[in-house]
Amino acid sequence: MRSEGRAADAGYDEAELLRRAREVRERAYAPYSGFRVGAVVVTEDGHRFEGVNVENASYRMTTCAEQSAIATMATAGVRSPIVAVAVVGDGDDPCTPCGACRQTVFEFGPDAVVYASGDAGRPLIATITELLPHGFGPRRLAQGQG
Ligand code: THU
Repeated sequence: MRSEGRAADAGYDEAELLRRAREVRERAYAPYSGFRVGAVVVTEDGHRFEGVNVENASYRMTTCAEQSAIATMATAGVRSPIVAVAVVGDGDDPCTPCGACRQTVFEFGPDAVVYASGDAGRPLIATITELLPHGFGPRRLAQGQG
């Protein structure tokens, strides 16, 4: 199905979601890279959760915006599948999720659509399985049980 159709079915508007992710980006804590990222996830049952990247003087402890949003979702006890993720980073080009974030999105939204944007041009729109082909997730793990 085209992404516009999916968006309407799931009750979100792509442009509004990206606008929100761009607003949220203002709260990024990125003093080391200077690269701010905002993310919004939408679940099948209509919840929305926001996140920003949170860096640390111990560089390796950085948390990405998508992971912040998903951690907030999990903390709220929401387990409804993620249907959409909007990610907006600094600069003109789309901020496509890093490898770790793709895996994190796949865990909670194996059918999610990702809207990645910067501040210019068109967003990159792709399903999580296009971004993470042949991903390893809960469905595969369940086959190994029993
Ligand atoms: N970053 C994210 O928040 N999400 C991504 O998917 C890509 C990278 C952040 C991590 C770090 O704070 C900054 O962008 C530069 O890598």
